[in-house]
Amino acid sequence: MAELASIVLAAGQGKRMKSALPKPLHRLCGKPMLSHVLAALRPLGPQPQVVIIGVGAEQVRSTFDEPDVVWAVQEQQLGTGHAAASAREALADFTGDVLVTCADIPLVRSETWERVLGEHRKQGAAATIVTALFRDPTGYGRVIRDESGQVRRIVEEADCDEITRGLNEGNVSVYCFSAPALFEALTKLRPDNEQGEYYLTDVVEVLVEARQKVIPVLADPDEVMGINDRAQLAHAERLLRGRINRRAMLEYGVTLIDPEATYIDPEVTLGCDTVIYPGAVLAGATTVGENCTIGAHVLIEDCEIGNGTNVRHGSVVRESVVGEGVTIGPFAHIRDHSSIGNDTRVGGGEVVRSKLGERVNDLHFSYLGDTTVGDGANIGAGAITCNYDGRRKNPTVIGDGAFIGSDACLIAPVTIGRGAYVAAGSVVTKDVPPEALALGRARQENKEDWARRFKK
Ligand code: UD1
Ligand code: CA
Repeated sequence: MAELASIVLAAGQGKRMKSALPKPLHRLCGKPMLSHVLAALRPLGPQPQVVIIGVGAEQVRSTFDEPDVVWAVQEQQLGTGHAAASAREALADFTGDVLVTCADIPLVRSETWERVLGEHRKQGAAATIVTALFRDPTGYGRVIRDESGQVRRIVEEADCDEITRGLNEGNVSVYCFSAPALFEALTKLRPDNEQGEYYLTDVVEVLVEARQKVIPVLADPDEVMGINDRAQLAHAERLLRGRINRRAMLEYGVTLIDPEATYIDPEVTLGCDTVIYPGAVLAGATTVGENCTIGAHVLIEDCEIGNGTNVRHGSVVRESVVGEGVTIGPFAHIRDHSSIGNDTRVGGGEVVRSKLGERVNDLHFSYLGDTTVGDGANIGAGAITCNYDGRRKNPTVIGDGAFIGSDACLIAPVTIGRGAYVAAGSVVTKDVPPEALALGRARQENKEDWARRFKK
């Protein structure tokens, strides 16, 4: 039997969010709050990781694909103590230690969990309660200590009198318990309080009265903040972003022109000497290489970007792979599993489900959809692949070194052979052999003196 398990409470309604979305699914730096909590617990190896769900249970459960999580349902939301007791079945026969927290406390780091567990075991405690000194403790249960500094109990804000309300040490809902002591104490809870709920916090008083050892561990109030409303969500987002951006600068060696205005998701990795301009959003599972420049107001999501690539102002690149030494934008849109070869240049056009080879020049307002472009090809200004016939998407193939004149329309499915030329303004409906010239436009006619006669 494993020595360590965890319980995350995520069954409540989250009323104060004023949202149809269950609170654990609200996102923080691109990831649901609950996934931050689980990610911080994971390195400690708790087994099982129990998550208590209730309101929006199916929606929460189906958002996650975490094989080591055991979902337990709290049918009725009768309070945090009742929620914790809903883990009883999942932890039947478990006699080790259990880390307990809530889905709305997403900034706690693994290092802090290690410290809490370490202290708990060193002191042989039945319960370890993490507390923090808040400048404004509004919303937190207040920690009541006796003259010797021992924790006696926790009073919820709704149950505070004038004196306890004035205390600024808050319970942050980050705990470690000996599992048997927790489940025994939970049977003693009574909902005789202002909110008529079974409070997990009352376990502290139950254990103290049973002369079991309860110890406090002090933490940084920012790290253990709880999120009950959208203002707190925005504040947490800012704190987490600060942490991610410091890591980008100090560990990855990345220059952020304005860290206050740079938005990087937690799983993004960045290469050394890359420079990121304000307003850039790097989202999802994105990797950016070394010596890249990411321009202002660029969005890159779920992409791999090679070394020395420059993504200019206002470009959007999603679910695509970009090689080395590439230039993209300004105002390019590259998406849906496209790939761009080394040293290729894409200007302000759109590239969709397409594969561009190396050294391609596609600099001015083109549209390439379902297209394969060979190495060294040139795509003229405003050239378009007409990939959609109203029913299906059809492929276009442009061979190595081909030259597509400005404003050409390539009606797919069509193949332009290696080294072929397509004259500007042509509408191409038939395949073009290698090294051929395709002309598909009306021949120009000049009428001498026409204008002079017209004006008379
Ligand atoms: C709780 C603590 C408070 C602490 C604060 C720290 C209690 C009674 N209070 O208050 O001492 O200062 O966290 O952030 O524990 N939940 C359920 N089932 C329920 C009720 C709640 O699963 O029946 C879950 C919620 O989804 C949430 C968590 O428990 O994730 C905490 O509930 P919430 O109502 O936010 O408690 P707080 O008022 O923040
Ligand atoms: Ca809360």
